[in-house]
Amino acid sequence: MESALEHQPVLLTEVVAALQPRSGGRYFDGTCGGGSHSAALLEASGPDGWLYACDRDEEALAAASRRLAPYVGRFALRQDNFSEVLDWIPAGSCQGALMDLGVNSHQLTSERRGFSFQFDTARLDMRMDQRQGPTAADILNRWETGALERLLWDNDESHARRIVRGVVEARSARPFETVGQLVEVVSRAVPGRPGRTHPATKVFQALRMVVNEELESLRRGLEASMAILAPGGILAVISFHSGEDRLVKEFMRREARDYDVPPGEPDLPHLRRMREPRARLIHRKGIEPSAEEIATNPRARSARLRVLEKL
Ligand SMILES: C[S@@+](CC[C@H](N)C(=O)[O-])C[C@H]1O[C@@H](n2cnc3c(N)ncnc32)[C@H](O)[C@@H]1O
Repeated sequence: MESALEHQPVLLTEVVAALQPRSGGRYFDGTCGGGSHSAALLEASGPDGWLYACDRDEEALAAASRRLAPYVGRFALRQDNFSEVLDWIPAGSCQGALMDLGVNSHQLTSERRGFSFQFDTARLDMRMDQRQGPTAADILNRWETGALERLLWDNDESHARRIVRGVVEARSARPFETVGQLVEVVSRAVPGRPGRTHPATKVFQALRMVVNEELESLRRGLEASMAILAPGGILAVISFHSGEDRLVKEFMRREARDYDVPPGEPDLPHLRRMREPRARLIHRKGIEPSAEEIATNPRARSARLRVLEKL
């Protein structure tokens, strides 16, 4: 997977500055992808820093193990969802945890995985972990109209109704199997305009996020990553999507405040139960990539890094 080895890591300097890796420290990279952030953490924590790294994608792990070969003996790699991190890393044991969300460049440029609308003949798969769960084709073929519409609305697709009508019509003639079939349906429902983003962009993103249960994994992954940190440990999260970023921001604000409200209740002063803050926000606002980084790596455009210190 050469393309993943060429992956340009986003906000690399900022991530290393936030986590301040040191020799003897223990770190967790929950999304090791091609291993570029992991390599930087190992380099900066030499000679004795330790890294636990996981990814849901088997092909990413193969690339990461090649990329991290110079640091052999100082890391453990595992194919897993970062939400399950407490299964293998002891609570309170790490000085830093990183999640760099979304897809890696190999997934996006692979002609087989179905993440990209560029490869017509690819199967509509989109699973990061190909051992589990329904594929994107399964969802398109099985979900009811209302559920499909809600999925697209929730991902800011303003033509949801028209696209879903096209999907339902098309699948009654022939079940969805390939990327090309979906691109054709979306393009018929929403004609593209030159210079604009491809009309299928949001549909592909919505399907990818639901196939991989990304928001649910993130919710659980944030809690679990906090749990593996020792006091003073740093949690750094890079998101590329407004829904993800909102979830990260709200989680971090909740950890940093000095009260809870009962589950399901609005945040009203008389409902607050005071407690000690569990964490400290390092920056009020997220960190965005510099103009130089965006110029050399357009993928960085929508990235935002948020950082929290466990108390
Ligand atoms: C943006 S890439 C990470 C790139 C990586 N930081 C690097 O330096 O190459 C995101 C990676 O996270 C993985 N991923 C997404 N959600 C995950 C989850 N819940 N658990 C584990 N890995 C996940 C994807 O498979 C993908 O490889």
